[in-house]
Amino acid sequence: MGDILNKRINVKELLKKYGSPLFVVDESKIISQYKRIKQGFTKLYPNTEISYAYKANYLLGICKLINKLGGLAEVIPGFEYQIAKLIGVKGNKIIVNGPYKPIEELSSMIKDNCMINVDNFDELNKINEISKKLDKKVSIGIRINAKIGKLPWSKFGFNVESGEAFNVAETIKNKFTNLTLNGVHIHIGTNIINIDLYKEAVLTILKFVRELKNKLGIKMNYIDLGGGFATEACPAEYDFKDWNVPNIEEYAKAICKPLNNFFKDENKKPTLILEPGRLI
Ligand SMILES: Cc1ncc(COP(=O)(O)O)c(C=O)c1O
Repeated sequence: MGDILNKRINVKELLKKYGSPLFVVDESKIISQYKRIKQGFTKLYPNTEISYAYKANYLLGICKLINKLGGLAEVIPGFEYQIAKLIGVKGNKIIVNGPYKPIEELSSMIKDNCMINVDNFDELNKINEISKKLDKKVSIGIRINAKIGKLPWSKFGFNVESGEAFNVAETIKNKFTNLTLNGVHIHIGTNIINIDLYKEAVLTILKFVRELKNKLGIKMNYIDLGGGFATEACPAEYDFKDWNVPNIEEYAKAICKPLNNFFKDENKKPTLILEPGRLI
């Protein structure tokens, strides 16, 4: 990457130099795609951060490029987290998701002030123990799940409809006094071409946010809607003619309109975080 920007590429020469198979990444395309997403959303909701989902492609050059552009890193513990650290992403620009976060890594993430989205009770207990040991107040987010369209996606996070997510928030407030609930995260799937599902996800989160504020007096600093934005590459299970991919403006409108309505009277609106992987 880097040296191919704005140049004609002679594939034969590259193969001679690097051997085969060879993957060539177009840096300028990643830059323009990142900027299109960022601008598409900030135009409607200025306080938006783009967090690149490393699982989409964790080549060091790509991850470094996103960091250079000001994007955040969305990682799971282990390999992806190590890459973010290796290339020098600051802790407060690393979002940690995933259903299993080993205690040693959690400690490092907490020391580095990473944004951790808690997936389950076991993890909450671990974070509480670490925060006591380090004598450090820790801000956390929670991952929630809900029935969005046909997708319950109930294996990750705390369920909203059953009241589980609210109970967790209440427990954090009353029992885990070293912890502050700061954000809420949802990820509704991948390659989502139906923008109504995003509207539904935002409305579900906003209803939950209202409940937290009214019943527990807790205000969210960020709303993380995960990834899932589709690309032009038609998946095998779809007929090509049915693969109508929304553009970024359409996704942005579906997500930002309800947010702007809901927070119209707030001076400081929460940060909207998006975690596009394949779209970048
Ligand atoms: C939590 C989370 N965020 C972001 C993504 C990226 O998804 P996509 O590549 O569909 O944007 C994934 C993918 O599974 C994910 O699990």
